[in-house]
Amino acid sequence: MSYPFQIQSLDQYKQDYQRSIEKPEEFWLSVADSFFWKKKCQAGDKVLDWNFTEPKVEWFKGAKLNITENCIDRHLDKLADKPAIIWEPNNPEERVRVVTYKRLHKRVCQVAQMLKNNGVKKGDRVCIYMGMVPELAYAVLGCARIGAIHSVIFGGFSAQSIADRLDDANAEFIITCDGAYRGAKDIPLKSVIDDALIGNKKIKKVIVYTRTRTPVSMIKGRDVWWEDEMLHAEDQLEHSGEFNFPAEEMDAEDPLFILYTSGSTGKPKGVVHSCAGYMLWTTYTFVNVFQYKQGDIHFCTADIGWITGHSYIVYGPLSAGGTSVMFEGIPTWPDAGRFWDIVDKHKVNILYTAPTAIRSLMSFGSAPFEGKDLSTLKVLGTVGEPINEEAWHWYDEQVGKKRCPIVDTWWQTETGGVLISNMAGITPSKPGWATLPMPGVQPLLVDENGKEATEKNEDGFIKGNLCIKAPWPSILRTTYGDHERCRQNYFATYENLYFTGDGALKDEHGNYRITGRVDDVLNVSGHRIGTAEVENAINMHAGVVESAVVGYPHDLKGQGIYAYVIYNGTHGDEEMRRKDILQTVTRVIGPIAKPDKIQFVSGLPKTRSGKIMRRILRKIAEGETQNLGDTTTLLDPGIVEEIRSGKI
Ligand code: PRX
Repeated sequence: MSYPFQIQSLDQYKQDYQRSIEKPEEFWLSVADSFFWKKKCQAGDKVLDWNFTEPKVEWFKGAKLNITENCIDRHLDKLADKPAIIWEPNNPEERVRVVTYKRLHKRVCQVAQMLKNNGVKKGDRVCIYMGMVPELAYAVLGCARIGAIHSVIFGGFSAQSIADRLDDANAEFIITCDGAYRGAKDIPLKSVIDDALIGNKKIKKVIVYTRTRTPVSMIKGRDVWWEDEMLHAEDQLEHSGEFNFPAEEMDAEDPLFILYTSGSTGKPKGVVHSCAGYMLWTTYTFVNVFQYKQGDIHFCTADIGWITGHSYIVYGPLSAGGTSVMFEGIPTWPDAGRFWDIVDKHKVNILYTAPTAIRSLMSFGSAPFEGKDLSTLKVLGTVGEPINEEAWHWYDEQVGKKRCPIVDTWWQTETGGVLISNMAGITPSKPGWATLPMPGVQPLLVDENGKEATEKNEDGFIKGNLCIKAPWPSILRTTYGDHERCRQNYFATYENLYFTGDGALKDEHGNYRITGRVDDVLNVSGHRIGTAEVENAINMHAGVVESAVVGYPHDLKGQGIYAYVIYNGTHGDEEMRRKDILQTVTRVIGPIAKPDKIQFVSGLPKTRSGKIMRRILRKIAEGETQNLGDTTTLLDPGIVEEIRSGKI
């Protein structure tokens, strides 16, 4: 498969960028030509219709497609026997599974048939809560094949989090596993689902795939085994003549999936992506950022429970007819050489991981590399958080042996795919900088008033809040069930701009460096968590009166979670109370949101109007002792001293 839209040189990047800004409709229409449509955009159709006030964004509306025909069927002619997915199990002793495009087609058709048999229709929401097994990819694609909207929930979220998401999405179907392996752990996913479903009257069917053979409860009439259902579906398809489940015709703008992500207020919101724009963008950026060449083996270490896995394990690579390595385990089990084993074993060409994983592997030194052949690597990538220069250089020297360009890809759940990044070997890299925007992306740094930023920092870089001026094809379309929330969150801060929530610097060549969130969203080990969410969870503990949560720099995680808690309970000593609070957070959100530090305080620094001055709490958590800024507007300035002296 060739990619007519693949950028081959720096000059071409500049030309394509220019063209994409001057004539976006023409530009993306020509990219769209490389895809398989059931009905193309016709002459006279509006390629793009948008305004950021409602907001409304429509790309290729009226055109028809099914993303799975692009990810699978169109490759069957030439690539039927090529591996689409190489699955590496948690336990290196277990058998690797190689899923060819032909096999993927068969399995996805079976899933589609199975979903139909169980009453799933186009537009229904299907929640997927599984470990990293190939069946997770089949489930995602099976939903897309029949036009059901998948909502994948990361395996680390609690029953309560799942219940909230099921409710918000009005979901009626679940696909899960009995359990999942993660390193030395065996996580009982089905039992978490059972807890989430206590009192739930909407869920009609739960399909359970067997992975760990952990004992599970199977409720008659509601719970069915994946294996039985798939066999039945296989029989039906075999008897239908041609082994195929016809792909549902979807409008370009029909929703493809929901993915929940944290914001600065309230509960996580369901980011909605649509079929065509998302497909174009993930494929286009996959091919261009990583400079994917037919035959390359791509290894993205993310979990499909996050957007990175959706876009760069499943949809992007498969639509490009690529080979995607899917890894069930964790980087440090059974030892810290796990990634290098996989690179060696599967002759990986592109490795895409998170700075937090890099920092954690750095601490093991060079021993884990011994005897591992990394010479197949051509391109390295990072995503999820700013990468510190030390980690960047370690990645470059130890992993890439200074031969492999590193792409620092900045993007978000809401953006669907990479927006700012260098392109491997095409545009220059700069350690710690995401560098240049993709074609079609118009970043703008603004000051607090929404005016273009002009203020420079001490290094001469312009500093501001990162916005985007116009819609690229895979911008989020809405937040599920609450369009006003989408407007408020992303389009209301600055007029006519999409606000990312990130702060950034810009150098004289137009390169961007993302400095981190400027809102109350934390980035812990590359996972997004809202401070308000963690506070709500802590406050649910019976002994807690009030709490305030801030982030602080953490060597491995990027950011750690620091909680200040007012407690009036009577049970246990301080240590016990901390553990109880951690347990509560684990129950309410999941282990990923557990605070790293909990400081008990008698009050919080509040203004006379009752607002918590987080700036002060952030500074104390960061270890700043002197310049806490103006505290005169506080109701009780004395509390600051108490908190400062009690810092842990
Ligand atoms: O703060 C930015 C950070 O991660 C946030 C988005 O998180 P999420 O929606 O979970 O998606 C993560 C994977 C795309 C952003 O607002 N972020 C992501 N990539 C980078 C980054 N920060 C700095 N550099 C990056 N390359």
